Amino acid sequence: MLLELFDHPLLGNLKNRVVMSAMTRSFADQNHCVTAASAEYYARRAADGVALILTEGTIVHPTGDGYNDVPYIYTPEQTESWKQVTQRVHEEGSKIFCQLWHCGRISHEDFTGGVPPVSSSNKQAGGINRQNGKPYGVPRALETEEIPEIYEMFRQGALNAIAANFDGVQLHLAHGYLADQFFDAAINDRTDQYGGAVENRCRFALELTEIILRELGAEKVMVRLSPSRGLGDGFYDWPDLDDMLAYLIPEFEGMGLRMLDISCARADYYQTSGRIIRQIRPMWPHLIMGGASLLPGQAESELQEGYLDMVTWARFILANPDFVTRLREGKPLIPMESEMLKTLV
Ligand SMILES: Cc1cc2nc3c(=O)[nH]c(=O)nc-3n(C[C@H](O)[C@H](O)[C@H](O)COP(=O)(O)O)c2cc1C
Repeated sequence: MLLELFDHPLLGNLKNRVVMSAMTRSFADQNHCVTAASAEYYARRAADGVALILTEGTIVHPTGDGYNDVPYIYTPEQTESWKQVTQRVHEEGSKIFCQLWHCGRISHEDFTGGVPPVSSSNKQAGGINRQNGKPYGVPRALETEEIPEIYEMFRQGALNAIAANFDGVQLHLAHGYLADQFFDAAINDRTDQYGGAVENRCRFALELTEIILRELGAEKVMVRLSPSRGLGDGFYDWPDLDDMLAYLIPEFEGMGLRMLDISCARADYYQTSGRIIRQIRPMWPHLIMGGASLLPGQAESELQEGYLDMVTWARFILANPDFVTRLREGKPLIPMESEMLKTLV
């Protein structure tokens, strides 16, 4: 199933069910534009046979940045730079979605033009930010009236992505970034309609998704969530996990969302996102993608058993530009090593 043609009602004709997961590479130029080297990097995977590519996290507004040298999709010049990527990937017959990203508190003034990063609360993230070797910035809790301004950043980013000929966008609502800072009761201590009860903590993600769906339509919008994700050597579940999923997933379905990517950051799939997918599958008869370094046989059985419709890989696709060929030929996969992050091959 994995390597056979896949005709999906929204995504259309796909080469197979292999998806390249979003991966930050930090090779944008000083204006946060992507370069020809990135276009070749993505096109190489498309030429090998990856059916759907999800780009690296792409910043929707300068105040949402938190990383070194990541691309934006904010100015006309940045938007224009993405056209070389979409063009090369389309020439190779694959589809590509742009992952829209706002880091929230996983940032520092060094990355946001000197203003404090924003979040659902003013609770600082623990630990040292490896991007600048400093503690994370102390965030400023968004005022209730400011929340629509964030939606507008994503809406403009989504329109820019379509202008750059992307097939769609993936809203990054996962991995502890801004939307997740609203979901997570350990961070979100708000007393307005965006904090407290499960319904309130889901409101930011739901309102944002509805706006983007209204603008682009169901065939161009995908959401990435990580209700259970890797943290240190273990994993972390959302507080009120069962109640959150029981409310959130039917709400997404009711508003017309049809594509979900359930992520676990970099944890064991079966303990984290695989478990979540088993829980939400009965509530979600539409497209689900997921995975984390699954072996080909494991991916096949997740598809056969109906848990997944498409399978995502990040590190194996980074380390093996010929990933799909290796699967077809039954060749071993090279594991990713940190050295490989230094070049864009
Ligand atoms: C170098 C690197 C960068 C990543 N950057 C992002 C990112 O920008 N956005 C995102 O949602 N996930 C990001 N991830 C997580 C991956 O998309 C994926 O969920 C995770 O690596 C697990 O899949 P894997 O085991 O196949 O690598 C990144 C992972 C790696 C290894």
